[in-house]
Amino acid sequence: MVSANLERIMTILSAAGDADYVGEPVSQQQHALQCAYFAQKAGAPAAAVAAALLHDIGHLQAPPDAQHMANLGILGHEKYGSDFLRELGFAEKVCALVQGHVQAKRYLVYKNKAYFDRLSEASRQTLGFQGGPMSDDEAVRFEADPLFKIKLAVREWDERAKVPELEVPGLASYNQLLLGQMTAD
Ligand SMILES: [Fe+2]
Repeated sequence: MVSANLERIMTILSAAGDADYVGEPVSQQQHALQCAYFAQKAGAPAAAVAAALLHDIGHLQAPPDAQHMANLGILGHEKYGSDFLRELGFAEKVCALVQGHVQAKRYLVYKNKAYFDRLSEASRQTLGFQGGPMSDDEAVRFEADPLFKIKLAVREWDERAKVPELEVPGLASYNQLLLGQMTAD
């Protein structure tokens, strides 16, 4: 079961080699691989590397009736993604980090006005669909989250992972790491 689920993930990410990454200059697969690469380079724990690789899986694996953010991907992709990974048996930490990457963006925009200016055009446009900057209360709750720092880190790797032509390790190099984040049933 675990290996069938891993295969399912790999099939989705392989197909994403050609999938456009909504409004960005790299494919969805390159984006995922670069994000995981930056996580590994930072010495992140395995759960965070797995989350970096899988954080946008909800764009690739959403229900047919999912709502789109104009032409910029799936609304609620972070939730679709984390639910899907939970179903496949991924560790809760991986699922929570995947779900947190949009929260982190909303927090950073709240916290730092200059951050908004650094966002890519596509990312600015989707912010409105995602609820805009956090409120004071939301930000206080988010700061108290035990995964607060690592959610921000995933977001940082996510933003960097848009480099055209960057050579990084391929999907197969993550097989063992992902297996280690999946529970047997
Ligand atoms: Fe992303």
